[in-house]
Amino acid sequence: MTEIAIIVLAAGKGTRMKSALPKVMHRAAGRSLLGHVLHAAKGLAPRETVVVVGPDMAAVAAEAQGVFPAARTVVQEERLGTGHAVLMAKPALAGFTGTVLVLYGDVPLIGTESLRRLADLAGRSGLAVLGFEAADPKGYGRLLRNAEGHVIAIREELDASPEERAIKLCNSGIIAVSAERLWPLLARLGNANAKGEYYLTDVVELGASDGLSCALAVCSEAEVAGVNDRVQLAAIEATLQLAYRRRHMLNGATLTAPETVFFSADTEIGQDVVIGPHVVFGPGVAVADGAEVLGFSHLEGARVGPSARIGPYARLRPGAVIGEGAHIGNFVEVKKAEIGPGAKANHLSYIGDARVGRGSNIGAGTITCNYDGYEKHLTDIGENVFVGSNTALVAPVKLGDGVNVAAGSVITRNVPANALAIGRAELEVRDGWAARYREMKAARKAAKKKV
Ligand code: UD1
Ligand code: CA
Repeated sequence: MTEIAIIVLAAGKGTRMKSALPKVMHRAAGRSLLGHVLHAAKGLAPRETVVVVGPDMAAVAAEAQGVFPAARTVVQEERLGTGHAVLMAKPALAGFTGTVLVLYGDVPLIGTESLRRLADLAGRSGLAVLGFEAADPKGYGRLLRNAEGHVIAIREELDASPEERAIKLCNSGIIAVSAERLWPLLARLGNANAKGEYYLTDVVELGASDGLSCALAVCSEAEVAGVNDRVQLAAIEATLQLAYRRRHMLNGATLTAPETVFFSADTEIGQDVVIGPHVVFGPGVAVADGAEVLGFSHLEGARVGPSARIGPYARLRPGAVIGEGAHIGNFVEVKKAEIGPGAKANHLSYIGDARVGRGSNIGAGTITCNYDGYEKHLTDIGENVFVGSNTALVAPVKLGDGVNVAAGSVITRNVPANALAIGRAELEVRDGWAARYREMKAARKAAKKKV
């Protein structure tokens, strides 16, 4: 197999997004548009990956690095067209001799399989484009073919004749060219067209005039849907969610109301996991086999162990690690905390920067006071600890194994194993006081009325 290099065009600002953020940094299913494209590219195990960004797009470069550390970034200072943008990657690909695949950073649903088909075709013929039948071809470049079905030119909408505009077979923009053919063709591009741009698409016509035939791979229109505004971004999100719900159900998860559950691209769900209605999975969540995530829970950057039960109305934040069979109940927030196997925090709690040992029970209303306004501190709770309701654990603090904390306590220092900790005001009970109080108040009220 010929080696593959990927060039992702991402220099567009995306004016129609009306955003301070470069277009490819916008997210769908918790992943940037660029991230989606790079993930699809990764599947081809490319030898080189180059992202072409605009000036002042350090954030895009960082994003590319984060998703795909092997990716390099080059800057296109002036936006002179797609052909010019590809040319910017030439120095980075010096010495590369395989097939170059050009992708768009704002076409996020592209699949690895279509890319592989396209690359295979180009590996054989030297040049191949990915086309699709458009329901409404307006705005796209049209693919012009000869009698053998080879693509002989790509005509941009603005440069097309009325007959050419009637063609529904359109250019996705994604193209594969052998490196040896690509650079000489790009050097010959002109900009005598309606937009005055150096069009990448013109390599097809130039190649044809040299006797290079361009192969065609066809994919669905949905797969090459682009993002130009936030309405299209929402459409991409919806498409991805449909696909992820289906994938997780087919992999053995029960979704009682799939249309209300939102996944991230990287969500991992085990077998026999039950997910209730209105659950949101932010990035970085893994749920092990047999766990239950009940309705209205929100998870992000969290690991849920086998047969654990989360929610309803639970919030797991980054660094939450829930052990096997543990329970995290309603209105419980867990952040950067390890909850041991079988441990329970069933109601109304905040557990942050903490460790909770196996089998411990965290009573309703327990709060780890982890922050002093400057730093975060650890609350370390041993195994089989019983923390009574409405306890404040002022970190840094450590409760040994088997400790019992009386309800309503404020725990400000370490408690040794198997001790009772009780820290609350002395209770006073005054016999008959309430009855006397009512009598006195009622009498006063009656006296006022008479006046
Ligand atoms: C392009 C194709 C068209 C195709 C359509 C599919 C060309 C000339 N036309 O048209 O045939 O049907 O995509 O959506 O290629 N970009 C840069 N630098 C530039 C210009 C563009 O990085 O100088 C990037 C943009 O950010 C974008 C992509 O290339 O991601 C496509 O550019 P755009 O101007 O949107 O091309 P279209 O006119 O849509
Ligand atoms: Ca476009």
